[in-house]
Amino acid sequence: MALVADTETQAAGLTGRAAGGPSEAEPLLALRGITKRFRTKRQDTLALDDVTLEVRPREFICIVGPSGCGKSTLLNIAAGIDTEYDGEALFEGTPIRGMAQERAVVFQEPALFPWLNVRANVEFGLKLRGVPQEQRRDIVDRHLALVNLSRFDRAYIHELSGGMKQRVQLARGLAVEPHVLLMDEPFAALDAQTRDDLQLELQTVWTRIGTTVLFVTHNVREAVILGDRVVVMSPSPGRIKSIIDINLERPRTPDDHAVADLAAAVRYELQNTGVAPEPRYAI
Ligand SMILES: Nc1ncnc2c1ncn2[C@@H]1O[C@H](COP(=O)(O)OP(=O)(O)O)[C@@H](O)[C@H]1O
Ligand SMILES: [Mg+2]
Repeated sequence: MALVADTETQAAGLTGRAAGGPSEAEPLLALRGITKRFRTKRQDTLALDDVTLEVRPREFICIVGPSGCGKSTLLNIAAGIDTEYDGEALFEGTPIRGMAQERAVVFQEPALFPWLNVRANVEFGLKLRGVPQEQRRDIVDRHLALVNLSRFDRAYIHELSGGMKQRVQLARGLAVEPHVLLMDEPFAALDAQTRDDLQLELQTVWTRIGTTVLFVTHNVREAVILGDRVVVMSPSPGRIKSIIDINLERPRTPDDHAVADLAAAVRYELQNTGVAPEPRYAI
């Protein structure tokens, strides 16, 4: 996997927003008493029922739950994509009123521009922001190196594999130095090997730049590998059932016994039936 080694200056550039950031004590993102109802002609769905979740600065939070339990709805509210709900959604103490670059979103299907090459895709948000050309080149170089794509900077999107497209999306999201990265099942469409690679890579990136991440997945093991805390949701209506702390050293891999044990505990929470599995320390 080996990420390209960087200089101290580059590392400083990637964490440059540390000064003046939110205080460690305050939640960066506060979703409080969120209730969301979708009304269509045929259906009235209570997608979220009184959901409260506070995300601290630099935390990696994973949300798991079965399809339809409201994971994307919650993420869309945090992103400012959905602004119609009851309750309170605050980012850095201010109500979320729409999308903003400080809250970057990475989707399952890479939302990349096919007519632009990799470099131009990553550069896009910086151009919008009016970042000068020299600086843009430097920022793009650093972020392409971060996701192991330096060699592909002139490639077009259709020339890339699924995993590479997700790397471009990640680089593009991170290039604007968001205060939080919101990821909705970003690895769900990838093959198992690529998924393992990207989980490891995301851990390395996260450890290096220390950004806050809210990551939605329906893959329990992925949640345990990546998260500081795993939020377990239950469906109909969408609620938070429990929140499980994951105090394991990083990097974590799918084969770690401790990962398997905690994944079993999370699965038990999801299923809510039978007896809790015993921890397993050997194969
Ligand atoms: N735009 C929409 N219109 C009507 N119902 C919706 C809409 N978006 C989501 N829902 C419903 O809200 C519930 C939660 O959806 P979603 O947040 O997408 O779940 P998840 O991401 O956990 O699979 C589901 O029952 C879904 O059918
Ligand atoms: Mg979803």
